[in-house]
Amino acid sequence: MDATDPIRRAIVCTGNSHKVEELALLLDDFVLEPLAAGTKLPPEIGATFLDNARIKAYAGQELHPGSWVIADDSGLSVDALDGAPGVHSARFAGDDATDATNTDLLLQRLDGYAETQLRTARFICVLVAIAPDGTEYLGEGTVEGHIALERSGDAGFGYDPVFIPTGETQSFAELGAEVKARMSHRARAARALSERILQPA
Ligand code: IMP
Repeated sequence: MDATDPIRRAIVCTGNSHKVEELALLLDDFVLEPLAAGTKLPPEIGATFLDNARIKAYAGQELHPGSWVIADDSGLSVDALDGAPGVHSARFAGDDATDATNTDLLLQRLDGYAETQLRTARFICVLVAIAPDGTEYLGEGTVEGHIALERSGDAGFGYDPVFIPTGETQSFAELGAEVKARMSHRARAARALSERILQPA
């Protein structure tokens, strides 16, 4: 199997089932498989999204030598918070953080920043794919927006209920999976990754 094969199986190196679902809608050239339940990935100690995506991808490659592996690292960068929560997005509210406690803390930290232009933010995603021959491919994507004053919507995960993409009036959690598959940071990173795999430099 190489980069010219039409259908490739790939192991997605994440414990987050939402990411596997979103990536499955985005990466048409792959049949995606989750890591076996309970697989432990190393701690995400990198300083950048790329570092952390690589940590997960190479850990997956060790577990599944000879397979394509794909890892994503992503997060939210809020201008008023100097880029936080950034690479700490999943654990913003501490080691036992949940989507709910992370979002509560974010809204609390932005208390006093009432106007939209003071609440600007972006989601960032870096995807790393490693081919069976060890070739590494990267894709990065961002989506600009702002943090709403309160939650709305039930779809998605993480900070989706409070993230309003630029040009929209509803949150990602209201806009839903189809809109996210078109314009999210993960969608853009997936398109960039696919282009690199199909047309390597
Ligand atoms: P990690 O990439 O698994 O380290 O976690 C990224 C964290 O960033 C998630 O737990 C969410 O809190 C947040 N995040 C990343 N992508 C999204 C998204 O598409 N919607 C909402 N939150 C996201």
